[in-house]
Amino acid sequence: MNAIDIMNEEHKYITRMLKVIRKVCFKLMEGENINYDDFYLIIDFVKNYADSHHHKKEEKILFNRMVDNLGDLANKVINHGMLVEHDYGRLYMRNLGIALEKLKNGDKEAKLDVIANAISYTNLLERHIDKEDRVIYKFAERELSKEILEIVDIECNNYEDNNIEVKEKNIAILESLERKYIKEIL
Ligand SMILES: [Fe+2]
Ligand SMILES: [Fe+2]
Repeated sequence: MNAIDIMNEEHKYITRMLKVIRKVCFKLMEGENINYDDFYLIIDFVKNYADSHHHKKEEKILFNRMVDNLGDLANKVINHGMLVEHDYGRLYMRNLGIALEKLKNGDKEAKLDVIANAISYTNLLERHIDKEDRVIYKFAERELSKEILEIVDIECNNYEDNNIEVKEKNIAILESLERKYIKEIL
């Protein structure tokens, strides 16, 4: 599989988790007891799969090539767009972790911050993924030379081969949460 296909496929798994996050937040909003373990699984998935596995691959294998080879426009959309959004995602997850701790310690108002940070993350990532699928990846495929795209493909596939367990473990987390929270797939 080429690098862009691999990353498009990862977007599909991440998008499925965004739907789970929304459902989990809705239950919380409706007054159901919070399931902390499920929130920790979500945070694990986002940290280890969406961020470490996927965003790091974009940053270290694809986006760096775009910035180095495609001039000002690439510099602008990557360094001042995509990478800033990756950082906002990390911030929302960090704040979600803090809010969960506060809620656990009896601060009921922190429920607002749990929902706000989780939903902000889903909104950010939905938009981010759409932009990458429709614009950024296409820009890379169109403008990077054949030689550079080949290097990107090789590095991306090597990365996948060396991180098979990360992928399997996180897809298993996703599927277990979907079985619990997404009624349509029951
Ligand atoms: Fe990204
Ligand atoms: Fe992405």
